[in-house]
Amino acid sequence: MFDSAIYQTRRRRLQEYFSTGLVLLCGNFESPFTAADNCYRFRQDSSFLYFCGLEQPGLALLFDLDAGREILFGSDPSLEEQVWSGPIPSLVERAADSGIGNVAPLTRLAALLQQAIAKGQPVRLLPSSRAENRLFQADLLGIQIAELPTFVSTELIKAVVALRSVKGAEEIAELDQAADLGYRLHCAAMKMALPGTYEWEIAGELEALAARAGRMLSFPAIVTTHGEILHNHQQIRQLQDGELLLVDAGVESRRHYASDHTRTFPVGGTFNPAQQELYQLVLQCSDRAYELIRPGITFAEVHREVCLVLARGLAALGLMRGDPQDAVAAGAHALFMPHGLGHMLGLDVHDMEDLGEDWVGYDEQVHRSGQFGTRSLRLGRRLQDGFVLTVEPGVYFIPALIERWRAEQLHADFIAYEQLGNHLDFGGIRVEDDVLVTATGHRLLGHRRIPRTVEELTGRQ
Ligand code: GLY
Ligand code: MN
Ligand code: MN
Repeated sequence: MFDSAIYQTRRRRLQEYFSTGLVLLCGNFESPFTAADNCYRFRQDSSFLYFCGLEQPGLALLFDLDAGREILFGSDPSLEEQVWSGPIPSLVERAADSGIGNVAPLTRLAALLQQAIAKGQPVRLLPSSRAENRLFQADLLGIQIAELPTFVSTELIKAVVALRSVKGAEEIAELDQAADLGYRLHCAAMKMALPGTYEWEIAGELEALAARAGRMLSFPAIVTTHGEILHNHQQIRQLQDGELLLVDAGVESRRHYASDHTRTFPVGGTFNPAQQELYQLVLQCSDRAYELIRPGITFAEVHREVCLVLARGLAALGLMRGDPQDAVAAGAHALFMPHGLGHMLGLDVHDMEDLGEDWVGYDEQVHRSGQFGTRSLRLGRRLQDGFVLTVEPGVYFIPALIERWRAEQLHADFIAYEQLGNHLDFGGIRVEDDVLVTATGHRLLGHRRIPRTVEELTGRQ
């Protein structure tokens, strides 16, 4: 964890958003894999980690604004636990590591919360997508799970998003560290991607590199020659010479900050002409994003500008037609890029996704589009110095989507359906890097950029 002063400052800033009532931040519990004593690898809740830094399961932090106290709830290790799991710090020691002055047994938390509710004190929670957390919280409050949303506080979500969105120097150092390890993962994948290799061998090497550094991947890696399947976690194919391999993988830093990079490159080291043209178009898309990213611009605008480059480029290749501005306004380009340009990155790969994507990516000024493609843009709002985000344009040929749109002649003024038959088995290309918005513009995270130009990617194997 960071120095306790960092967590104390974060907690003080959170408390400044509220004047009365209670705020409860719950940590995660062990989650059984096959049985209670055989659990998934433990990963602390990211907001709890942000405000406490404590990585053990079974903790909760209560801010009592009325009493001006913060209390860490948990338990001291039993002798039995110490026999099976070795020395475990006491609750007081763990609280001290985070600069928290008060501790209490977790078994006392339910009564305290239920008394507060009975007295009419507001009790505020964050949402959680983990079922065991929702069960725990409902038990604590003495309510049915279905009633939990009444305790999920928009005020609290907004405060946490405001704080976590702007990364401090200590977080940026972690994100650089994650990106540096990400560089090693992607270079290793490139070296391995020879004809005859299986996708799972590369995915396994990514896991191994992370594990050998004492880390974990920040999400299940995507290693696929079917890049058109956006979140393809199947790793079953043997690589063939001339195919494009898409590797979308990230890793956590020591303190759990994520990287998230994608590279797409030819198995065997040579792009064919069609692959190269479309690959260079994706690079032009990302270059356009980097021309624009700076504080003050909305990411929705950056996304739109990138889609224009995509539509112009596809028109030049004979795959789209008509006025690119009109095509993008109509959403026709989304046949080829049905996802958003990027998302916030931090302690989560899609940072703060658990708190509700619209609270993270949108605000009173910028609302999520309802249009297919653009509605999947996770981040639309105005960029600020200290935001960290991904830039990940792509171009995909998704047979089911093409077939449906062609049957409906959707956007037929803009899409050259007659040319798409040749591309149904093309696959997909995505290129993704991680970016820090700075006072004057932006910089990439990590000290070295993963090879990305055609020259860098060809002839490597
Ligand atoms: N790895 C998923 C994404 O890039 O958003
Ligand atoms: Mn990714
Ligand atoms: Mn991403």
